[in-house]
Amino acid sequence: MQNKETFGSKFAIIAAMAGSAIGLGNIWRFPYVIGENGGAAFIIIYIAASLFLSIPIFIAEFTIGRRSGANCFGALNTLAPHKSWKFTGMLCIITPTIILSYYSVVGGWSIEYLFQALTLQFLNPSENVAGSFEAFICAPAAPLVTFLIFLALTCLIVAGGLHKGIEKFSKIAIPVLFFLILGLAVYSFTIKGGAEGIRYLVSPDFSKLTPRSFANAIGQSFYSISLGMGIIITYSSYVSKDDNMFMSGLGTAGFDLIFALLAGFAIMPAVFAAGIGPGSGPGLIFDTLPFIFSDMCKSAPILGSIVGITFFLTVTIAALTSSVSLLEVPVAWMIEEKHVKRSSAIAIVFVIVAILGSASALAYGPLKNITISGYGIFDAVDIFCCNFLLPLGGLLCVIFVGWVMKKSDVEDEFTSGGKYGFNSRIFPFVYFLERFLAPLAIGIIVLANFF
Ligand code: PHE
Repeated sequence: MQNKETFGSKFAIIAAMAGSAIGLGNIWRFPYVIGENGGAAFIIIYIAASLFLSIPIFIAEFTIGRRSGANCFGALNTLAPHKSWKFTGMLCIITPTIILSYYSVVGGWSIEYLFQALTLQFLNPSENVAGSFEAFICAPAAPLVTFLIFLALTCLIVAGGLHKGIEKFSKIAIPVLFFLILGLAVYSFTIKGGAEGIRYLVSPDFSKLTPRSFANAIGQSFYSISLGMGIIITYSSYVSKDDNMFMSGLGTAGFDLIFALLAGFAIMPAVFAAGIGPGSGPGLIFDTLPFIFSDMCKSAPILGSIVGITFFLTVTIAALTSSVSLLEVPVAWMIEEKHVKRSSAIAIVFVIVAILGSASALAYGPLKNITISGYGIFDAVDIFCCNFLLPLGGLLCVIFVGWVMKKSDVEDEFTSGGKYGFNSRIFPFVYFLERFLAPLAIGIIVLANFF
C-alpha cells in the first residue's frame, strides 16, 4: 500500500485524531465524573489510566493501521497469520457503524438547540425551554429530521476525501473548538457564585476514590480517546512511516484531556451558580444548560444569547469531528475491499445508518414501548456498544499486537525503523503494557460488564 494517500502534516494527524477524541464524552460526562470521584484526585488516576492503558492501546491500533496501510478488515487480514482474526476486523467495522447511528441522533439534538439559540428562542423561556427537551425527543418527527440533517453533514465532509474533507475540516474545527471552549471557560470564571463549581472540579478529595473510580477512569479515557472501534487503525493507515506514533498518542490524549477540563470549567460554575446539582448526560446539556441560558437572558439578553449560541456551536462541531471519524471506518473498508467509489460507499453507509439510527431517533417517541432488557432502544444500543463492543475491540487489538504480531515488527513500527531513539528506549516498557497490563485490565472490564 505504498501509494496510499497520507495526512499532509503532523498537525493534520493530531487534529483528525483529537477531533475524533473530543466529543460529547468530554462535554457531558467528564466534568461530572471528575466531580463525583474526588476532583483533582480523579484527574491523577485518569492521567495514569491514559498513560498506562489507553495510550498503549492507541499505539497498538496505530501499529496495526500503519503497518498494514489498510482499513480495519484489510489490516488484520494482511497482518494475521490466522484467518480467525478477520472477525476482529469485521467487529471494528460494525461497531463504529452502530455507534454512528445513535451518535448522530445526539448530533441532531445539538443541531436543534443550536437552531433554537440562533433564532433567539432562549429569550422566551416559558414557551420554548421549560420541559422542551422532553417534548422534543418525544416528538414523532423532529428528532428524525435533525438526525438525518446531522448524518448528511457528516457524509458531506467525508465525501471530500482525506485531504479536502477530513483533514481540512479537522484543521479548522480543532482550533475553533478550543477558541470557543476557552471563551466559555473564561466567561464562566466571572459568574457570581460559580466558584463552588470550580471547587467541585478541582479540590482533591481522596476519600471519594473507590475501586469504581478506577474503572470509571479507565472507561472514560478509553471512550474519550475513541479506542476499540477501528478509528485509530483507519486514521493511522493514512499516516506516513516517519510519524512518531508515541507523540501522536500523547498529543491526542493531551488535547482531549485539556478540552475536557476546559469543558468542566465552562459548565460547572454556571450549573452551581444556578443552584442546580451537577448532572451528566443529555439532561445536563439539553435540559439544565438551556434553562440556565434562558435564565441568563432575563437579565442580559444579548450575553445570554451569545453564550447559548457559542455553547451549542461547540457541541455541534465537537460531535461532527467525532462522527466524521466513525463514518470513515466503514467507508474506507468499502473503498479498499469492495472497490467502490467513495461517493457510492458513503451513499450505502448513509442508507444503513439512516435505517438503524431511525430506531434510536424515535426511541423516546413513537417507539418508546419497545425495550431490550428493560432499556429503551437508544440506551440499549449505547450500553451494548460502550460496555461491551468497545472494550472487546480494544482487547482484541492489543492482544493481536502483543501476542500475534512479531515483536521485531512491532518495534520497527513503534520506532519508525529506529528513527526515534526515545521510542527505542521506552519500547520494552510499552511492549510489556501491551502484552500484559492492558489485556488484563481491559479483560477484567469486559468480563465485569458482561456479568
Ligand atoms: N471520543 C468521543 C467523545 O469523547 C466519543 C466517540 C465515540 C467518538 C465514538 C467517536 C466514536 O465523545
